[in-house]
Amino acid sequence: MIKARIAGTGSYVPEKVVTNFDLEKFLDTSDEWIVSRTGIHQRHVAAADENASDLATQASRKALEMAGVAPEELDLIVVGTVTGEFTFPSSGCMIQKKLGARKAFAFDVSAACSGFIFALSNAVNYHRLGGVKRSLVIGSEVMTRTVDWKDRNTCVLFGDGAGAVVLVSEEGERGILSTHLHSDGNFSELLYQPGLGASPTEPPQDHFVKMQGNEVFKVAVKALSDVALEALEANGLRKEDLKMIFPHQANKRILDAIGKRLDLGPEKVFSNVDQVANTSAASIPIALDHAHRGGKIQPGDLILLNAFGGGLTWGAALVRW
Ligand code: COA
Repeated sequence: MIKARIAGTGSYVPEKVVTNFDLEKFLDTSDEWIVSRTGIHQRHVAAADENASDLATQASRKALEMAGVAPEELDLIVVGTVTGEFTFPSSGCMIQKKLGARKAFAFDVSAACSGFIFALSNAVNYHRLGGVKRSLVIGSEVMTRTVDWKDRNTCVLFGDGAGAVVLVSEEGERGILSTHLHSDGNFSELLYQPGLGASPTEPPQDHFVKMQGNEVFKVAVKALSDVALEALEANGLRKEDLKMIFPHQANKRILDAIGKRLDLGPEKVFSNVDQVANTSAASIPIALDHAHRGGKIQPGDLILLNAFGGGLTWGAALVRW
């Protein structure tokens, strides 16, 4: 059966780093509180002239180079993002222009922090149908523009960045084995950001991210663990078969709790949240690129990508690398 295989990965984080100590200077918080509650030490913040499509273009060029695929050869670009510079055109169209990917059709997927997995699942299905042979799947966000920098409950958690993968259609064992997506709008009030459509006459006065952190924490741990087991079971595979998992990098305590629930040692639960914080849809492809370039995954390894975000949304992809 035709599979979509990840032939290249790339990531990009903005140059500017904001540490917890920097936050202490203007916020009633401390490095000790942030590290002990989240595992986050620092986050990257986009420059004033950098948008989500700029970060994405940088990450995409690296992924394309690794895959040996030229932009003009791409059939499809799908972007997980909720922080594009325009409501329309999509970030996908902006990236298509910046890369010169003339042939590719392009669109965005809105699933908050699960955006990359939802985008990946879309692309995989186009590959299976046969019309798409080479695609670019991206997660890119400038989350630091969506938080109130006076709200210590949210602003310490997020960072900016982008990650990308190039998919190629192939026969064989390697590739994306399955994807599993879920949503539950009943929990929408736990984590949300008002949009331009919120008010009939004027832009929303308060467009910042709102979150009930404690509740989100509990639901996230269960959803991320359950969907991992669902993906394994669907393929007749076991937890022991996994080389490594790449959960959404929201919080180190969430990562530790998932590892515990799945009986996976810390070496099998990838984490870079200490360096990049929560980059929403970008977090999984950035993590994957860091692990891949760091030599942590090899051809034939079984890995799992699992995400969770506002919506609520959650999902997983099981991959034979
Ligand atoms: N610095 C210092 N104190 C802070 C703080 C900060 N940055 N943020 C919150 N606090 C305070 C709270 O005001 C509260 O004070 P109070 O007891 O005087 O009211 C206290 O710390 C405890 O707050 P609480 O919300 O119970 O802390 P917590 O242990 O649940 O940790 C989160 C808060 C946000 C770190 C945690 O709930 C979490 O990580 N949730 C998941 C969030 C997430 O990942 N969202 C994205 C999912 S895609």
